[in-house]
Amino acid sequence: MPGRLGAALLVFAGFAAAQAPASAPSPYAGSESCQVCHEDIYKAFAKNPHTAVEKDKKRGWENRSCESCHGPGSNHVENPSAETIRNPAKLPVAEGDAACLSCHRNQPTHVGRIQSGHARNQVSCTACHTVHKSAEELVPRRRAAVNAECSTCHLAERASFQRPHKHKLPEGAMSCVDCHNPHGSILAKSLQTVSANEPGCLKCHGDKRGPFVFEHAPVRLEGCAACHEPHGSANPRMLKRAQVSLLCLECHANTPRTSTASGTLGGIPPAFHDLRSPRFQNCTICHVKIHGSHVSRELLR
Ligand code: HEC
Ligand code: HEC
Ligand code: HEC
Ligand code: HEC
Ligand code: HEC
Ligand code: HEC
Ligand code: HEC
Ligand code: HEC
Ligand code: HEC
Ligand code: HEC
Repeated sequence: MPGRLGAALLVFAGFAAAQAPASAPSPYAGSESCQVCHEDIYKAFAKNPHTAVEKDKKRGWENRSCESCHGPGSNHVENPSAETIRNPAKLPVAEGDAACLSCHRNQPTHVGRIQSGHARNQVSCTACHTVHKSAEELVPRRRAAVNAECSTCHLAERASFQRPHKHKLPEGAMSCVDCHNPHGSILAKSLQTVSANEPGCLKCHGDKRGPFVFEHAPVRLEGCAACHEPHGSANPRMLKRAQVSLLCLECHANTPRTSTASGTLGGIPPAFHDLRSPRFQNCTICHVKIHGSHVSRELLR
């Protein structure tokens, strides 16, 4: 067994083509043999981040990095056709992803985890990462490029950013991955997290974090989207309702004070709140600390 392994290693080293076949011919052909017919791709690969695989001895793919993704290629070299070689982009999603995850598993990011909506919904790594073009196409980093990539499939979400009140995403000040991790997250909708498990919104809106002495229950329990439309809204402050009082009264109405047992609804405003009077239509004129207060149980200051 060790002898055979040694022979195989020699073949991996790329001498195979010139030498007499070993007793058990290696299934691997080596990257240089691909160059003969795929000159353009071979040359461009030198500028590709994956060229690290070709050069690094420790990874085990030295001089045969093409085959780390495409699988053993000696049969293909002898019988060249599309049928005799593996193309991760044409495989069923789970198999193609497995080829990438053989190296990109369990990194500190969520990359190696498969919990995301995308993996669940058969969106492959190669739907977003194009291997043989520029480094920028392998992994988009410029905000505009990320937004363009996401928008190819999520047209409706992109369109929401045309509404009057929204984050400055179309202007390039922000991108979808500021709020979403395309590889998955412990939060629903693949939302980014900060400080382990808090919503990513707090990365920029730290003043809403607390901990507050008097929390407004839905902020932490239901999340920012209980009151805001994060992608953009027709309403000021990106609120879900045009009139602030309507938003509040969806929870603070006709339910007994004890309703907190259900954990979802707030109490009714006390009787002096004359809801017919314009004075009471903008609740946040008085309840200014709507995200939580350090001093007022009623969120008044
Ligand atoms: C003798 C010429 C030759 C050599 C050497 C060669 N190929 Fe190919 N390769 C081809 C031909 C011909 C095709 C089919 C092209 C087509 O159908 O358009 C092909 C297609 C491919 C495809 C596309 C398959 C698909 O389904 O889209 C990949 C990937 C590929 N080769 C990788 C490799 C790798 C990796 C090596 C080195 C191990 C290699 N080739 C060596 C001739 C060669
Ligand atoms: C990191 C994985 C990976 C490595 C390494 C890799 N490829 Fe590919 N290759 C792919 C994927 C994925 C595709 C499908 C198209 C795409 O996403 O760019 C592909 C497509 C191809 C094609 C089909 C033509 C095309 O543009 O679609 C050829 C030929 C090819 N690769 C050859 C090679 C050669 C030669 C090497 C080594 C110099 C190599 N590949 C290294 C992943 C890889
Ligand atoms: C043989 C191991 C291996 C395989 C298989 C592999 N990669 Fe990589 N990948 C690497 C290495 C090494 C780098 C260079 C950067 C680094 O050190 O992390 C890299 C870099 C990347 C980057 C750029 C990271 C950055 O920070 O710029 C992306 C994106 C990526 N790979 C996606 C893929 C996809 C998609 C596939 C499957 C088609 C794949 N990889 C298959 C080893 C691999
Ligand atoms: C929905 C699109 C999408 C899918 C699907 C996807 N990625 Fe990514 N990936 C991205 C984007 C966008 C980035 C850049 C993230 C950033 O800059 O924060 C990225 C970054 C990366 C990086 C660089 C490291 C990092 O976290 O910045 C690697 C490596 C990577 N992806 C590998 C993979 C692998 C492997 C798969 C399949 C299991 C995959 N990706 C699936 C969009 C995607
Ligand atoms: C190739 C098409 C495609 C691309 C590109 C794509 N997505 Fe998706 N995305 C999907 C599909 C399919 C689903 C699942 C069905 C749905 O919810 O619409 C999904 C779901 C999602 C979800 C809901 C996830 C969940 O866990 O419920 C979010 C958030 C998302 N995508 C964000 C992004 C971001 C951010 C990008 C860009 C980095 C992106 N998508 C790029 C196809 C895509
Ligand atoms: C300011 C942060 C933020 C930005 C930027 C953002 N999203 Fe979202 N997105 C969210 C939140 C929060 C939710 C969850 C909403 C909810 O629970 O009702 C969400 C939900 C989604 C969903 C799931 C929708 C559904 O109905 O299930 C998709 C898909 C999505 N976003 C895609 C995108 C895309 C694509 C972009 C970039 C064009 C983007 N998002 C930019 C915060 C953001
Ligand atoms: C990358 C930083 C960043 C992240 C992440 C972020 N925001 Fe913002 N947000 C901003 C900035 C900057 C503004 C200032 C308004 C502008 O862009 O014109 C803003 C404004 C707002 C506004 C006020 C809009 C107005 O009309 O006054 C609301 C509400 C808001 N964000 C909610 C959220 C929610 C909810 C999330 C998470 C789903 C979130 N933001 C994530 C940066 C961020
Ligand atoms: C219970 C409903 C509710 C929840 C939940 C909520 N907000 Fe708000 N938010 C509001 C209201 C109402 C306003 C408008 C206040 C005003 O008009 O003075 C507002 C305003 C804002 C503003 C702009 C004005 C300012 O105070 O900076 C930002 C930014 C904001 N919210 C971020 C967030 C973030 C981030 C979350 C999640 C951590 C969140 N909100 C959760 C109701 C809510
Ligand atoms: C998603 C449901 C929801 C929305 C929307 C909502 N609240 Fe609340 N609110 C609650 C819950 C739940 C509590 C905690 C009630 C308790 O402890 O009895 C609460 C508590 C309060 C309190 C503290 C007093 C108390 O009853 O403990 C005030 C004041 C308040 N809300 C005002 C508002 C205002 C003003 C708005 C509109 C900007 C609003 N709420 C929107 C659910 C909501
Ligand atoms: C003119 C100022 C003002 C406006 C406008 C106002 N409130 Fe109040 N609200 C108060 C004050 C003051 C208290 C505290 C009453 C007390 O100490 O008994 C209070 C208390 C509350 C409470 C807590 C009741 C409890 O039992 O602790 C809720 C819930 C509430 N308001 C909801 C609303 C809603 C919803 C609106 C908008 C429709 C609104 N408020 C508009 C001044 C206002």
